[in-house]
Amino acid sequence: MRKRIVAGNWKMNKTLKEGIELAKEIELQVEKQKDKSIGVIIGIPFIHLPEVSKIVNHKIISIAAQNCSSEPKGAFTGEVSAEMIKSTGTEYVIIGHSERRSYFNEDNKTLNKKVKLALENNLNPIFCIGELLDERKHGKQFDVVNKQLNEGLFDLADEEFSKIIIAYEPVWAIGTGETATPQQAQEMHEYIRKLVSDNYNAETADNTTILYGGSCKPSNAQELFANPDVDGGLIGGASLKADDFIEIINSF
Ligand code: 13P
Repeated sequence: MRKRIVAGNWKMNKTLKEGIELAKEIELQVEKQKDKSIGVIIGIPFIHLPEVSKIVNHKIISIAAQNCSSEPKGAFTGEVSAEMIKSTGTEYVIIGHSERRSYFNEDNKTLNKKVKLALENNLNPIFCIGELLDERKHGKQFDVVNKQLNEGLFDLADEEFSKIIIAYEPVWAIGTGETATPQQAQEMHEYIRKLVSDNYNAETADNTTILYGGSCKPSNAQELFANPDVDGGLIGGASLKADDFIEIINSF
């Protein structure tokens, strides 16, 4: 049975001190939760990884980086490799976030390299996909997502693919306050699961965790998570306040 997960993406927010405080507060509150079956991940800035990884109990909260290099090592000034990330005790890495795709020109081919390096270093990728507003207006959302998955993930072997978490984040819903309706989310998640089934098999599709991201907050998490193919969320703004983040986890 696939795992239900709520993951935070702090993006470029929080100083180290603030990050440590927030991580501790989240951990404290998650520890009190009755339902321990929900995975909780925080996606934090690179420089926070070693420190936060040291102070949290990884049985309660897992840590994700927000990116990794598409190269294994060497003369790539400013880059951080999957191997380095793993060495801090981090378990996950967000790959292909729409902000990386648009502001840093990361294409599916580059993202595919990142996914493979992450897997080689025992990091679980949280692979983000999603269409732009214009693409949805023209009814191209399914083609876009299909291409992102085909070029980014679907050449992985079964065993490798089983480590992947998919996050569907319609770009028009990220940081805009506009959320996909529960119907729009379910329709796309169902489509993604069908693609996984077609490219792998029904069992793999059934075991794949597919998260929704894009203006997910305490007020709408419950109706989004109630859908059969929505297995949790990738939360931006609302993951920066412990109370909101916990309320979203409680929405299950
Ligand atoms: P918001 O929740 O702020 O819309 O961000 C979503 C996101 O990009 C998570 O990765």
